[in-house]
Amino acid sequence: MSLTSRLIGICCGMTKREADLLSFAAGMHDLGKTEIPVSLLLKPGKLDRYEWAVMKTHTTIGADIIGNRGSERYKAAKIVILTHHERWDGRGYPQGLRGEQIPLMGRIVAISDVFDALTGERPYKRTWDAEEAIEEIIRGSGSHFDPTLVPVFLEVFPEIRKAICQTMG
Ligand SMILES: [Fe+2]
Repeated sequence: MSLTSRLIGICCGMTKREADLLSFAAGMHDLGKTEIPVSLLLKPGKLDRYEWAVMKTHTTIGADIIGNRGSERYKAAKIVILTHHERWDGRGYPQGLRGEQIPLMGRIVAISDVFDALTGERPYKRTWDAEEAIEEIIRGSGSHFDPTLVPVFLEVFPEIRKAICQTMG
């Protein structure tokens, strides 16, 4: 997920330093989940309205945990923590930012987070194969995801796949 974000970042023209920051920040994106009850995180079925409202707070809680730490890495992490669930169409959370109001790092991590969640094992869903996950990302272009970043994701996908295969041995 950090690697996917980094590859997208580099392909968008980020410098190595910016991509390093993004990679660190991506690794921290769900920091706030440390304060969400485990029963919610591991719930096999759909969350009810109340549970969903609690789950959404992982963004703002994570940002609070980072607080005002001044280093660039933590500043980047805070941005990603706060914005990885925003959506291009403004229907995301916690702030309902829209389009380029969402920082680039948040828009990138939104894609790698969904791809990672779909292709990984989660208690509430089956594991999707990469092709199905890609189709879902394409379907979300312009609604969930930045439509200029989806083609970038597709471009770096072969490299992502190679890295995943290497990790799995
Ligand atoms: Fe999240």
